[in-house]
Amino acid sequence: MIQTLQAVRGMNDILPDDAETWENFEDIVRDWLKGYGYRPVRMPIVEPTPLFCRAIGEVTDIVEKEMYSFEDALNGEKLTLRPEGTAGCARAAIQHNLMAAGGPQRLYYQGPMFRHERPQKGRYRQFHQIGAEALGFAGPDIDAELILMGARLWGQLGLTDIRLELNSLGSAPERAAHREALITYLERHRDELDEDAQRRLHANPLRILDTKNPAMQELADAAPKLADYLGDESRAHFDALRALLDDAGLTYRINHRLVRGLDYYNCTVFEWMTDRLGGQGTVCAGGRYDGLLEQLGGKPTPAAGFAMGMERLLALWREGGEAEYLAERPVPDVYVVNQGENAQRLAFRAAEALREIGLDVLLHCGGGSFKSQLKKADASGTPYALIIGDDEAASNEIGIKPLRGDGAQRRVPFAALAETVADMLYGGEHEDVGAGQGAQDGSV
Ligand code: HAM
Repeated sequence: MIQTLQAVRGMNDILPDDAETWENFEDIVRDWLKGYGYRPVRMPIVEPTPLFCRAIGEVTDIVEKEMYSFEDALNGEKLTLRPEGTAGCARAAIQHNLMAAGGPQRLYYQGPMFRHERPQKGRYRQFHQIGAEALGFAGPDIDAELILMGARLWGQLGLTDIRLELNSLGSAPERAAHREALITYLERHRDELDEDAQRRLHANPLRILDTKNPAMQELADAAPKLADYLGDESRAHFDALRALLDDAGLTYRINHRLVRGLDYYNCTVFEWMTDRLGGQGTVCAGGRYDGLLEQLGGKPTPAAGFAMGMERLLALWREGGEAEYLAERPVPDVYVVNQGENAQRLAFRAAEALREIGLDVLLHCGGGSFKSQLKKADASGTPYALIIGDDEAASNEIGIKPLRGDGAQRRVPFAALAETVADMLYGGEHEDVGAGQGAQDGSV
């Protein structure tokens, strides 16, 4: 027996019922992004490995243990399936001189990302993000905009129970001063550090504050706070952001231990989270990354952005969002049944004539008796079946059978088909009726 193959662990098929909901969700999100002036950009899924090492940081979970990296079999180049979109987006903006040519850019992308994590509910190895990146904006106004965008989308999707956490990571020298104090503090408590923290002590001590280990919470709580090391400029930036958020009536919590898992951030960082998804509650996260573009070889360019996890948002949307947006199986306007060679040719023409005026048409393929075809038509939910057999083909006419209610079956000449069906569906309000149909008389 031939063994069936399965999808890679942690990578999911999204089947039609779900994929339709995804598309509805994406439509809403695209409209929302356009409403803020964001423009689409599409980057490759595979990038040179050093891009992520430089951007995300060598001593991060992502780069240390989660990247799908491989060597190009032909030229040995080190490549990686993108674990996130910010690095690729920044690379693309630099490579194509977007800011030099067009000034500051508001960009968005969507698509699959890959991280070799332990799969569980809400955490996958292939997952999907929609990300927004504002490149070339220095002020706290863009931070506020990026955050307020999130609040608007949750409202639009009918999602409640999403809260905002906010922190400022300050500038690189401020972080360096804090880091020194932090290492001194952690070294004093070396015995209490778990294995992970011991390993990170010198490489990435800030991440120790983010620990999920309950035994280390007290230690992390009492550690020197980055907030106490922020200079005037960082403080003013954060205060101005908070004033804008307060003005908009947004509630948030300042979380001094919010440090994010990617090294490119400075100043503002934020996460939107919910308790309704179990352990994987962060649905959207981001912040400022003023040093990244320069670090990747571009001109110094302030920037900020966020990315949201589509699987997590969709899980929330499904259970508590606006039910009317959730996809239902689409119902065709018309289902065309046909039997016989000439009838089949007329059926193809009839279906095309109706698609020409914008109707959704399911043309029966695969033969079978009229009875079984009509059963399928009924099951599709369509209001009308077109019936085409030898008689109809001979007279170039089409049978129209209402499947809902008690209307009578009728026959119309091919030339009158589009107008008649549109009239039956829309009561004569369909503007495009007749468009493109006149050229064909349908005769077979
Ligand atoms: P991130 O926090 O690594 O940030 O990911 C952003 C979001 O992607 C998370 O909040 C979560 O919703 C989703 N996500 C991450 N990993 C997984 C996973 N394994 N399975 C399911 N969902 C996941 C970034 O990626 C940054 N590039 C965000 C950003 C954009 N910062 C500035 N601009």
